[in-house]
Amino acid sequence: MKYIFCLSSALIIMGCSAAKADQAAERGLSLYSDLCSGCHGEGLRGGSAPSLADDNFEYGGSDSDILTNISRGIEAAGMPAFDTLNNGQKQDLLAYIRNGSELTRAAKPIDNVPLATSGIKAEDFVTGLKNPWGIAPIPGTNEWLVTEKAGRLLHIKDGEKIEISGIPPVYDERQGGLLDVAFDPDYSENGWVYLSLSDPSEDDPTAAMTMIIRGKISNNVLTAQEVLFEARAEDYIKTGFHYGSRITFDNDGHLFFSIGDRGKKDMAQDVTKPNGKIHRIKRDGSIPADNPLIGEAGAYETIYAYGNRNPQGLIIHPDTGVLWETEHGPKGGDELNIITTGKNYGWPAISYGRNYNGTVLTPFTAKDGMEQPISQWTPSIAVCGLDVYTGDLFPQWRGRLLAGALKYEQIRLIDVSGNQYGGESIILDKKGRVRDVTTGPDGAIYAALENKIMRLSPQ
Ligand code: HEC
Repeated sequence: MKYIFCLSSALIIMGCSAAKADQAAERGLSLYSDLCSGCHGEGLRGGSAPSLADDNFEYGGSDSDILTNISRGIEAAGMPAFDTLNNGQKQDLLAYIRNGSELTRAAKPIDNVPLATSGIKAEDFVTGLKNPWGIAPIPGTNEWLVTEKAGRLLHIKDGEKIEISGIPPVYDERQGGLLDVAFDPDYSENGWVYLSLSDPSEDDPTAAMTMIIRGKISNNVLTAQEVLFEARAEDYIKTGFHYGSRITFDNDGHLFFSIGDRGKKDMAQDVTKPNGKIHRIKRDGSIPADNPLIGEAGAYETIYAYGNRNPQGLIIHPDTGVLWETEHGPKGGDELNIITTGKNYGWPAISYGRNYNGTVLTPFTAKDGMEQPISQWTPSIAVCGLDVYTGDLFPQWRGRLLAGALKYEQIRLIDVSGNQYGGESIILDKKGRVRDVTTGPDGAIYAALENKIMRLSPQ
């Protein structure tokens, strides 16, 4: 796999010699887990013996110092001698330690997040929904469009739910279904409504892939439908996971959308596959001439960035134009990223998370040529849904990110300035799994939970 990348894709920066060093570090990890982690801690993080990840070596930090300390031990300090290891094994340990020192420049997990729910009134806005997935206010109104995962698009008007017909069939299995909904930035002139969905394959209805369409609502029917993005038939996948599928727009006519890795993690590094990527198209579905993979043989030219696991939050910040993204990690390692063109976000080669069964997924949290998250949540909060607060009801929050969390049943308010992370607080707690969150036209904050939409306003 890596070999193929070396030949075919200049963009995959994980070069051939780097791959060799990776293999040494991977062997080093398994030795380390057996012989060293009992004292120096998992992931080199320190335990009864100090961290080896911080580039701070009291007994000498050169390669030969470290190799000597491993062979001879440091008797007085309680470090045993490992004189039975051969040179290759010691080199492998060294490679693993050298890679781990990158931990120090990496994102630290967020802890001690303050609860800031007092003074906030959280009330039901619409009840009786079934798995609402995407919510968006109809521009210029306090009416809403809401997707239900099973395939219904609802127009919410004065508490009434009006079903919009003409929605294409969706593969409503596990995490698939009718997913996000968004309005064209020029909706009042052109009437376009955008949807993402898991599109069942024509050949095999148990295989699906994220698709992006648009249409216009007329007499409660979605008309004038256009398919804006559709994967190649051979890239439809039978797993029911990780569709990604959030939609956002910039001011230059681009539409960004996400596709998760579909449970096929290695495909996130393969630009000839659509999954595990952030894509950029124009609003009519055409491909921008300056997309990073234009002309790359076999690549999806819609790809804007890659190496993403399951991005279920995607938003352009209206003040800065920064494209913020949140994605689910495996067990730990949920990420807040800034997405920029052509970049590799590292999944599954680097991650702060582990396999669900707790075993090591990758020894690496950082590698050259791969982007670090701006921050990461370990343990995972199951981050889902992302918006920027732009209302007037909480003026002190303007410009901050609103991030939903399924597992933790929260909304996190994240302070960002430019591309810096400035801490976060919890503004909704334990009311249910938050799938989507957005600023409403009245300046309140609206959140889609499992069976309803809630509205947050000052008490
Ligand atoms: C029984 C516990 C124990 C085990 C097992 C152990 N170490 Fe140590 N190690 C120590 C202690 C204690 C020190 C010295 C700490 C101090 O004085 O700061 C140390 C120091 C070191 C140092 C020097 C650190 C520095 O600050 O310069 C290195 C390198 C090191 N260990 C590597 C390893 C490796 C690699 C393994 C596995 C092959 C290993 N150790 C296994 C306890 C252990």
